Amino acid sequence: MSKKDWKYHLQCLRCEQEIESFKIWFDHEQRCPGCGNNRADVKYSDNLANIEDFLQDKSVSDSGLWRYFDYLPLNSRDNIVSCGEGLVPIDRWRFLEKFAHNKFGLNIKVYAHRHDNNFATGTFKDLAGSMIASVLKESEIPTYAAASTGNIGVAYSRYLSAAGISLYTFLPHNSSLAQEAEIACFGQKVFRVSGDYHTAKELAMEFSKKHGILLAADNYDPMRIEAKKTMVYEWLRLMLDFPNVYIQALSGGTGPLGIAKACQELSGLGYFEKMPRFILTQTDKCSPMADAWADAKKNGFPEGWEKSYPIYHNPETIIPTLATGYPITYPVISQLVHESGGEINSFPEVETIAITRLVAYESAVRIGPAAAIAVGGFIRSLTDGLLNEGDSVLINIGEGIRRAPGFMSRLSYSTTKVDTLDDCILMDREKYRQQLWDDILE
Ligand SMILES: Cc1ncc(COP(=O)(O)O)c(C=O)c1O
Ligand SMILES: [Zn+2]
Repeated sequence: MSKKDWKYHLQCLRCEQEIESFKIWFDHEQRCPGCGNNRADVKYSDNLANIEDFLQDKSVSDSGLWRYFDYLPLNSRDNIVSCGEGLVPIDRWRFLEKFAHNKFGLNIKVYAHRHDNNFATGTFKDLAGSMIASVLKESEIPTYAAASTGNIGVAYSRYLSAAGISLYTFLPHNSSLAQEAEIACFGQKVFRVSGDYHTAKELAMEFSKKHGILLAADNYDPMRIEAKKTMVYEWLRLMLDFPNVYIQALSGGTGPLGIAKACQELSGLGYFEKMPRFILTQTDKCSPMADAWADAKKNGFPEGWEKSYPIYHNPETIIPTLATGYPITYPVISQLVHESGGEINSFPEVETIAITRLVAYESAVRIGPAAAIAVGGFIRSLTDGLLNEGDSVLINIGEGIRRAPGFMSRLSYSTTKVDTLDDCILMDREKYRQQLWDDILE
């Protein structure tokens, strides 16, 4: 294809070489053919000339992520592999606004970007699953390999199965049995590795080299970043005001990278003043980035601070989704957070049960454990004085409870064992609400 006919291309972030398509990117082991760098941005030849039309289109459509086809790196619509991912609501959570007002005297808006009901996997990894299956199909890749803490493996398995592409998944020893089954039920291969996520990644890399199988790239994967950037398009399309604070549970960091990409693409077009402040929250059981950040902050962010971080082996956590103990993206993520005026912190995962119960009571939404860490990040931000009067805060509810049945089974609190009619006493549901808030305030 001659250059003037390109819809999109990749551009190396180091030497700026332009790479025509993902097919060529894959042929070069997902590196720049010029300098070997593994980071590239996707650029669109028309420089987003028509983005306004997409952001103004308030219609409900079943195309989800793919309503933005013009600004996603796929040449033919025939290759789209989709099941309505990204068709998710952005709700106002007034119960958290009231809490901020009554307890901290702050008037803020709180929005929940609700990926809990994404069709394929019930997580925001559906976006990446659809994007990657479509690009691999267009590039005629028959087989793929990936290491995953769980959610991304389930998404890849579902979407690659729909595309007729084979998948080898490498799961760490502690990932959930339910997720293992969700991957395997499509007839895709699971290797459960006796080791942590980093060990699973290393084995996947050796396996892919040995058999010449394309390996899912790390958190800098431009396909994943392009999928995640559409979250910002959805904020602009659906919300009256652009959030100035973004809160997410943090593991590898693809979410914030996608959001930063969208903000960079759209900057100067007058849609928002600046990128939101990133408040990224890790589980306290695996918090290398939060620990590195706390250390850097304590020392006044000295020269080279972003290059210093701990590596945690075999983190023991009930939220394996968030168990990235080797935080290779920290140098980039931490700079982004710093530039945004935000924070990387952690939240005790033992509190996630109380948070999930409260959210279910107050909003009738059942969030998953990683999403509960994000809501915990919001509460901690209030306590630590990170939120300001007038802020418009968006919390990424990255997953629903459906993907974590073990966690769900721990959520009941209203059961009484009964033998007789007399045992069946009436309840005062309001008392539950009080108890749930008391649990949080403790
Ligand atoms: C629900 C949920 N929240 C947050 C994360 C962390 O995502 P990120 O790669 O942006 O750190 C993940 C995946 O790891 C996830 O599945
Ligand atoms: Zn290059």
